[in-house]
Amino acid sequence: MSVLKERLNQKIEEHRPRTRKLMQDYCDVVVDKVTVAQVIGGMRGLKSLVTDISYLDPLEGIRYRGYALPEVIQKLPKPPGAEMPYVEGLYFLLLTGDIPTESEVTEVVDEFRKRRILPRYVYEVIDAFPSFSPPMAIFSAAILTMQRESFFAKKYQGGISKSDYWDSTFEDSLNLLAKLPEVASYIYAKLYRDGKRIQSNPNLDMGANFAHMMGIPKPYDDVSRLNFIIHADHESGNVSAHTGHLVASTLSDIYLSVSAMINGLAGPLHGLANQEVLRWLQDLVEKMDGQVPTEGEMKQFVWDTLNSGQVIPGYGHAVLRKTDPRYTLQREFCQTHMKDDLLFQYTDLLYKVVPPILKEQGKAKNPWPNVDAQSGIIHWHYGITEYEFYTVLFGIGRSIGITANIIWDRALGYPLERPKSVTTEMLEKIALKASEASGGKKGKCKEL
Ligand SMILES: CC(C)(COP(=O)(O)OP(=O)(O)OC[C@H]1O[C@@H](n2cnc3c(N)ncnc32)[C@H](O)[C@@H]1OP(=O)(O)O)[C@@H](O)C(=O)NCCC(=O)NCCS
Repeated sequence: MSVLKERLNQKIEEHRPRTRKLMQDYCDVVVDKVTVAQVIGGMRGLKSLVTDISYLDPLEGIRYRGYALPEVIQKLPKPPGAEMPYVEGLYFLLLTGDIPTESEVTEVVDEFRKRRILPRYVYEVIDAFPSFSPPMAIFSAAILTMQRESFFAKKYQGGISKSDYWDSTFEDSLNLLAKLPEVASYIYAKLYRDGKRIQSNPNLDMGANFAHMMGIPKPYDDVSRLNFIIHADHESGNVSAHTGHLVASTLSDIYLSVSAMINGLAGPLHGLANQEVLRWLQDLVEKMDGQVPTEGEMKQFVWDTLNSGQVIPGYGHAVLRKTDPRYTLQREFCQTHMKDDLLFQYTDLLYKVVPPILKEQGKAKNPWPNVDAQSGIIHWHYGITEYEFYTVLFGIGRSIGITANIIWDRALGYPLERPKSVTTEMLEKIALKASEASGGKKGKCKEL
């Protein structure tokens, strides 16, 4: 058994009694109440999921296993000469809660390397797509097509104990994650490089190998590592994480679950926002004839977008209430490596003008930038100008967190997810009863 699997096994054994005790002794303790606004409004803020892999504090941002992102970057082992840590080391941290040693990371890097080879039919499936297909659709299908490789599905058919579900799910997860950079770079070569593909380099770690297959020199290896690490997880309730968890709760395997989560990530209010940012910025660059706008011109552009009924892409968040630390980390990278870049100058000017405007408009609960406001311009700077591909890059990272969560879901025996729905009439009756009980008092609800 590998060091990672052995440590994970030990952590699972330690953790199981905690979940069992909660379910046995405290099953009817109330955790949260549900309001009409939450039932109609996308269950916003409702505490109804559990994960120990990451936690999103509205003011502090994401923590992975208790570590803030700058700590994760600082503490995880790095390849020689690199600014950013091994992505494989992050997987060790997410799964076990422990910062791996150099030798532990080396072992995980080797595990990933051994599992990189793609079955031939995956290339054929990708090749068969029309060349105008959206990259996220091809990415999702390529993952789905590998479902026949699932160990979990085979073991389940053969009959295994519930307590062992996590083991084959772990194997599936490593197999899939190791292959995603190759899948993505092959899609890129097909769509935008006339099929000219660069073969994987067996001596490189996941981030560096991806940069190599994309044909982009240093420091894009560090960009890839940073990109995969910061996008890995954002607790359980966001659409991609929740979709992965929900689909996996039916005991669908990793391939089915990750393909489904990729489809959720492809929506413009979620992962697609990073490409929306680029589209929006390019529109302005064209209007400005390649010049940096003045503060006044930028404010006007932002107001024009809002007045035409659109959102400002890359700003706002369902949970965060401050600048996203993932934005800050990328901004620091830009300041070091590309501070004279035209789009970075636009992005920095936006950071100055958008929050006061969103506050003045008074609708967005969070006027600050999120991860998507900054990530696309970095890929653009290093030559990936096909911005519809950016969500695929997000998807590789997000798969890391989703699979870690699903392995733990299986280990702790989380059941099929099945919330209850009500009809509008039932809600009206509940509302009327509450109103009568309070003497006709109306809640503090916003005018619609
Ligand atoms: C991320 C996002 C989907 C969160 O949605 P949410 O939780 O419903 O956000 P809020 O509760 O703050 O929304 C309240 C209102 O502010 C508006 N709002 C939120 N963010 C906004 C933005 N960036 N620009 C303009 N208006 C915004 C909403 O559209 C909503 O308007 P409505 O009452 O007319 O429907 C939203 O902020 C958004 O659309 N941002 C732009 C897209 C983006 O960056 N997505 C990536 C997220 S990581």
